[in-house]
Amino acid sequence: MPNARINLKKELENAVSENMLKVIYLCSEAADSFPVSVFLIGGAVRDVIIGKNHFDTDITVQGDALEFACFLEKKYPDICKIKEIHDKFGTAKLVFSINNQQIDIDVAGTRKETYPYPGSLPKVEEIGCELYEDVKRRDFSINSMALSINKNDFADLTDYLGGYDDIKNKKIRVLHPSSFIEDPTRIIRALKFRVRFDYELEESTKILQNKCLDSGMFDNFCGERIKSELKQAFNLNRPEIMEIFLQENIYKLVNKDINIPESVQNLAENCEKTALEYLKFLKPDFIWLIYLGVLLTDFSQEKIADIAYNLYLSGIETEILTGAAILSEKAEEIEQASSNYEIYQSFEGFLPEAILILLIKTPQLKEKINLHLKKFKKIKIYTTGQNLIDLGLKPGPLFGEILGKLLKAKINGEFSSKEEEKKFLAAQMHH
Ligand code: CTP
Repeated sequence: MPNARINLKKELENAVSENMLKVIYLCSEAADSFPVSVFLIGGAVRDVIIGKNHFDTDITVQGDALEFACFLEKKYPDICKIKEIHDKFGTAKLVFSINNQQIDIDVAGTRKETYPYPGSLPKVEEIGCELYEDVKRRDFSINSMALSINKNDFADLTDYLGGYDDIKNKKIRVLHPSSFIEDPTRIIRALKFRVRFDYELEESTKILQNKCLDSGMFDNFCGERIKSELKQAFNLNRPEIMEIFLQENIYKLVNKDINIPESVQNLAENCEKTALEYLKFLKPDFIWLIYLGVLLTDFSQEKIADIAYNLYLSGIETEILTGAAILSEKAEEIEQASSNYEIYQSFEGFLPEAILILLIKTPQLKEKINLHLKKFKKIKIYTTGQNLIDLGLKPGPLFGEILGKLLKAKINGEFSSKEEEKKFLAAQMHH
């Protein structure tokens, strides 16, 4: 049964932006005139209780969400538009324009779901069911609460499954024993919430997590969603994510052959430090690949390509992981590189993220990596193909050779100014 009446109006007003609050009140008015019961649900309610700002607002309608979405659009024609409709799931995305700000909300009908097989996408069984049925299919108690937005009980909390107490006690608890088996991505979600909020896994949830990881029933399933959760977790750039990922065998969701490094803590902290120190060389969205990459450098390129395929990685994401493995293989050779240009050539063509993975694995290369990323990579020559044509040369392979020679000489410090480059070029032409 739900807790004694808890009203979170103040907390709601504090947690969301002024414009978002306006949208919630507009939805509230529409809910009453439709009329239908409408709730804020899931992560949004959790974050209201915790007191954190939440950006994607999910609204659940006890009934037909598509009808309610159309009703909102008709009621507020100047400021509300339906962006997307997903008939199959009975959900819609709406955008409100409030004070020149675009505010997105997701509207869904309460629904029952089942999993045809472990790791599959859930199948929607019944739309418009009781709220209880909707929340009990969810991942954790902390994400299973609803906040009414109808006027007569505005901001009253519905908490059938003890989420409020679990937030207060900082616990992550699944709602039924097959939760992880049905959806193994929840193991990574739990990891993300544990570190993000400094929560712990509740005892029986921990046992269920271990059982699921030991069962291996997730092989090759739900790679795309595993990727999405891995990305969110590791992009927090918190070493604890890596530590728990390895210590609790969560890595098996990616590949069971990943080796646990000698000092997990050192490696995890190095990843964090390196990502922070070289932030401007990294796409923020690729931080997670640094953590994943350092665990895969000993794998063959073929195996990495397999893992990348199973996780639905993009071309560039795959290139970071394979690039790091290739660089690791030739780390000793790179250590021998002595001239500036040799150093430049060792790294040229590799993405900075791949080079940073190498740095974490081989810290003695730091000086060379710094020279490359901070100096050599920036060096450009002034001479262009057009300049060579103006000097009477015919376009062809010779152009590449001359420009290459110029770049090599400049990186090796043989000249630096534009004038000196001209002189160098003239001397080359003479030869
Ligand atoms: N959900 C679930 N199982 C999943 C993913 C999501 O039950 N594998 C439910 C949870 O109730 C969750 C809601 O769907 O609260 C919305 O999911 P999502 O937007 O991914 O997460 P949030 O909880 O909003 O968390 P975050 O703050 O990380 O976005």
